[in-house]
Amino acid sequence: MKIGVFDSGIGGLTVLKAIRERFPRTDIIYLGDTARVPYGTRSRETVIRYSLECADFLLAKDIELLVIACNTASSYAMEDLSSHSPVPVVGVVEPGVEEALRHTSGRVGVIGTRGTIGSGSYQKLLENRGVTAVAKACPLFVPLVEEGLTEGPIALEVAKLYLRELKESCVDTLILGCTHYPLLKKAISQVLDNMVIIDSSEAVARSLSEMVLDDGESKLFLFFTDDSPNLPSMIRRILGSDHSYEVVREVPKT
Ligand code: DGL
Repeated sequence: MKIGVFDSGIGGLTVLKAIRERFPRTDIIYLGDTARVPYGTRSRETVIRYSLECADFLLAKDIELLVIACNTASSYAMEDLSSHSPVPVVGVVEPGVEEALRHTSGRVGVIGTRGTIGSGSYQKLLENRGVTAVAKACPLFVPLVEEGLTEGPIALEVAKLYLRELKESCVDTLILGCTHYPLLKKAISQVLDNMVIIDSSEAVARSLSEMVLDDGESKLFLFFTDDSPNLPSMIRRILGSDHSYEVVREVPKT
């Protein structure tokens, strides 16, 4: 089977990694929209347009399932992508919420980009299921990860700054609602000791169990819409080894 995965940039490689660990034979085509990252600060209309363009790029490669690795794109563009795509579409929001519901006794925290938190996507789903949601945008987390500052005093101070409120609000489970945040898990758990932390990349991989036939040739194709000097090291850091990639300067325009 061939799955297409897209993200605003490199962070979605955390989702790709979780999918590959669970379905090692499945062929995956990944598109990271590095030319237009971040999505987390852009308007709903722009994120929808970019997401449709990324989807078209992958659909033209005959994928059989489309995974939206980006939480911001999942929050804003899930409906548009589902009605646009001829193949099933899976986002990260629902699987993360389902996983949180398995652990919480009633109060769930969610952190993400300004776009994801502002869209209310996680909060609405949680509240529809009778759970109180406490949400917090953590805009400095993405640049911290991109600069490789995932551990140490700076990461810890920023985590303390953002997570203090959540700690005081008696949530028992926290959803990492952004592709980059799994890489900050150590600093986050240091601040929120004893809290169940839901990694939405693992949750989405688990949610694919009934949809994926793990019968491919383990092929992996990485595409990015722009190159940057730290791309190879970020790929290595997230996927654990070097991988070649192709830069596509143009994705189809909607
Ligand atoms: N991929 C984005 C997300 O998960 C984070 C980076 C961005 O803002 O584009 O929301």
